[in-house]
Amino acid sequence: MSNERIDALRKAVDANPDDVLLRLVLAESLVGAEHTEEALDQYVVLLDKDGLPEDQLVPVGELAAANGRLALLRSLLETARQKGVVEGTGRLQQLVDEMISERSGVKIKVGPETEDTPFAADTLKETTTFDQVGGMEEIKRVIHRMVVLPLSRPELYEKYGRKSGGGVLLYGPPGCGKTLLARATAGECGLPFINVRIEDVMDPYLGVSERNLHAAFERARANAPCVLFLDELDALAFARHKHGGSEARRLVDVLLQELDAIGSENDGLLVLAATNAPWDVDEAMLRPGRFDRVIFVPPPDEPARADILSVLVKDVPADGLDLKAIAGQTPMFSGADLRALIERGVDRVIDEALAGGGEPPLAMHHLADVLSTVKPSTLDWLHRVRSYIEFANQSERYDDVASYLKSRDVRRRLNRDTKGTKG
Ligand SMILES: Nc1ncnc2c1ncn2[C@@H]1O[C@H](COP(=O)(O)OP(=O)(O)O)[C@@H](O)[C@H]1O
Ligand SMILES: [Mg+2]
Repeated sequence: MSNERIDALRKAVDANPDDVLLRLVLAESLVGAEHTEEALDQYVVLLDKDGLPEDQLVPVGELAAANGRLALLRSLLETARQKGVVEGTGRLQQLVDEMISERSGVKIKVGPETEDTPFAADTLKETTTFDQVGGMEEIKRVIHRMVVLPLSRPELYEKYGRKSGGGVLLYGPPGCGKTLLARATAGECGLPFINVRIEDVMDPYLGVSERNLHAAFERARANAPCVLFLDELDALAFARHKHGGSEARRLVDVLLQELDAIGSENDGLLVLAATNAPWDVDEAMLRPGRFDRVIFVPPPDEPARADILSVLVKDVPADGLDLKAIAGQTPMFSGADLRALIERGVDRVIDEALAGGGEPPLAMHHLADVLSTVKPSTLDWLHRVRSYIEFANQSERYDDVASYLKSRDVRRRLNRDTKGTKG
């Protein structure tokens, strides 16, 4: 959204301070424009005016947590409790606990401990499921067989002497649903999802990153059974041979120790990881018992895009959308690109609503108007991986990618793109 529009919205809100819908639009636009602090200030006001929809409590809570706004986080938790938003209460409590334990350096057991807590233990279970992940039919099947089934039917696996356990590493271009899929895997297993993000671990002070990483595993063990997710594994497990510093090496060693401990103790931790840069991941991570199952998450194909679009517009008031047609016009778009497309379309609808009043539905012409403003973001990644396969002699590691790159449409598209950028 343009700055002029945000300015206009600011003025409108100043003139109508009690119009919570308008303020909500302002807050969301500010988030979109990455004026995060100002957005959070607006959410404080909204909460005060009882103008924050219930389904926004957790997303705003995540934003508040990511920006260190404990007071706001607490008010959100309080509101969720008062309104009886059970799942939201669990998640917000977890965010509050995490922030407090981070600040005090004291580990708090996340989740309810006593019987009289107002929400039950299973409210911490992840609620995202495979339904919310568009496309990826084959990958979902594989994960179901490798992860969900061994957990829900352990006796089957024992009987046939098949080992479960060992981590799963998802890799592929950014924005194609790796994090979403990991979260949904926890949801399918009915387990809590503990997301270890790189910014939660990395610290410039000597030894602190290692301690943070260890603390993340401890927190997961305290909440086991659960899914521990290591996002951006390449940054945590940066290939040693490419990196001289003993700093990075120590972090890799801590991670290896933690992973090996899981293998031997079988303590109910399921580890998933994701990376956009598999070539930077230390080989040692891929040994048996560690991340021995590596899955390529490609850009969605046409039917998958239609499916993702239907997930994305599920709650948007829309009229006459031809999702198949849009899927056909968005080759090589990632899920995140499709989401950006829908969001820009919705921005247009809001513009219309602001200008003309009423509540027009999202229609094909809105999306057609913005289609040229969103470019597929997966091409850079595919070019890069192609040169790895060709020149770095790492082909065995990328068999799935290699066969994906060989498919006719992809090859044509990449070649055209190369010519395009050179010409
Ligand atoms: N398959 C998908 N189905 C639905 N939404 C998707 C899908 N892939 C990506 N998205 C959208 O894009 C966003 C970013 O995806 P994410 O899982 O973070 O990608 P990655 O981890 O691969 O970079 C998601 O939050 C979701 O809104
Ligand atoms: Mg991700």
